[in-house]
Amino acid sequence: MIGRNDPCWCGSLKKWKKCHYPLEKNQSLDTSPQSLAEHYYNDFQIILKTPEQIQGIRAASHLAAHILDTLCAHAKAGVTTQELNELANKLHQESGAIPAPLGYGSPPFPKSICTSLNEVICHGIPDDIPLHEGDIINIDVTCILNGYYGDCSRMVEIGEVSPEKHLVVDVAYESLMRACAILKPGALISDIGNTIEPYAVSRGCSVVNQFVAHGVGVDFHEGPQIPHYKNSFHIPLVAGMTFTIEPMINAGVRTAVIDRKDQWTARTKDGKASGQWEHTVLITPEGYEILTPWKR
Ligand code: MF3
Ligand code: CO
Ligand code: CO
Repeated sequence: MIGRNDPCWCGSLKKWKKCHYPLEKNQSLDTSPQSLAEHYYNDFQIILKTPEQIQGIRAASHLAAHILDTLCAHAKAGVTTQELNELANKLHQESGAIPAPLGYGSPPFPKSICTSLNEVICHGIPDDIPLHEGDIINIDVTCILNGYYGDCSRMVEIGEVSPEKHLVVDVAYESLMRACAILKPGALISDIGNTIEPYAVSRGCSVVNQFVAHGVGVDFHEGPQIPHYKNSFHIPLVAGMTFTIEPMINAGVRTAVIDRKDQWTARTKDGKASGQWEHTVLITPEGYEILTPWKR
């Protein structure tokens, strides 16, 4: 933890108290909500959402969680990830939503959901290979509804899986829920990774550091970037922030290698299993709200 007189984490070389030090309670008397929003946007690229935006993000997130639960219920041995992708297309269409992954990034992501099996860490592309007994799969859904974004993912174990695979499924889930539990105004972004990494390491796993969580809501990937590993990103959480937590937990080394051909699929370097669960969350005056209430 840095002190008031230490150099600011932002690299300005000013004292923390003269730079990005969080506002005191009594200072906030003459600080309108708008100027806090301006401060967060100008200094951290964090968009504090209005009540109207929060309503829209909540609706998009609830839909994403509902679509995700439906897809997970269909993930069984013999079903292909392409079939899950087609079901995802249908469910988005029926709700007047757009799947955010389709055409996203460069090269454009070719499908509507990410399906990441076994040693795939994230950004797996649906294909015609059937799921097999013993697989673990992460399904990641991001909906755009009325211009607002909700982003979430879950793991499914297909039948009986190896102890290594079960471990990453369980540690990734616990990592997500333990990180959610510390969320409230005044907690720091660093508290998230500083909660997750010691826990995951205590269970013999590693935390991926080449991908991070992110602000989400009025865009797919907004500021800030949120590491799941130990860090000193000392920005206080404030009410109105919406972001993901999506720890990627490996049984072996943390290193990810991106597929040279498709330029998306990220696999563990050692081929060992990887697990991930994701929520979109809102910071409220009292604590937090999970905006993507999927059922495990
Ligand atoms: N949904 C992923 C996330 O959690 C991002 C997927 S980008 C895509 O941030 F293009 F691969 F879809
Ligand atoms: Co995300
Ligand atoms: Co996601």
